[in-house]
Amino acid sequence: MKRHALIPLFLLPWWIAAPLPQPPGDPWKAPPQADQLKDPMAAHPKAVERGAKVFASVCWTCHGPTGQGDGPAAAGLPTAPAKLSAPEVQAQSNGALYWKITHGRDPMPAYEELLSREERWAVVHYIRTLK
Ligand code: HEC
Repeated sequence: MKRHALIPLFLLPWWIAAPLPQPPGDPWKAPPQADQLKDPMAAHPKAVERGAKVFASVCWTCHGPTGQGDGPAAAGLPTAPAKLSAPEVQAQSNGALYWKITHGRDPMPAYEELLSREERWAVVHYIRTLK
């Protein structure tokens, strides 16, 4: 065996040994201006129904069929998917949730280009039904 194969992992530089995108437990905050974003689905009668469809097609695999954070893909992720019924999530403004869905934070995907603006707002309305 070559000698360098015996170098213990903890002697590697931190940027090789710890490639995590962010330290665990680092709270995810939307910028304050997200609270002011205008919701085009606010008075839309089908907002929840549309959001439920979006949720059932792209979100449930991580967040779970009822948003409990227990989807089939959750176990393999470095960060646990949020439990969307939790008070910490429900206490945020619609704009803040929309902002997070739009921008994502690894491993949560950014949906800015994957979903339309209406779809992203609609799924926020659906999240409100989970509390
Ligand atoms: C690949 C798995 C994955 C998918 C798919 C996914 N999420 Fe997430 N989501 C996560 C993870 C992981 C977090 C926690 C991220 C963090 O805290 O850094 C998260 C966090 C969130 C949050 C923030 C909750 C909080 O604590 O403030 C919201 C809102 C959210 N997701 C909504 C959605 C919606 C809506 C969809 C579908 C359009 C979706 N997610 C799809 C993994 C996923």
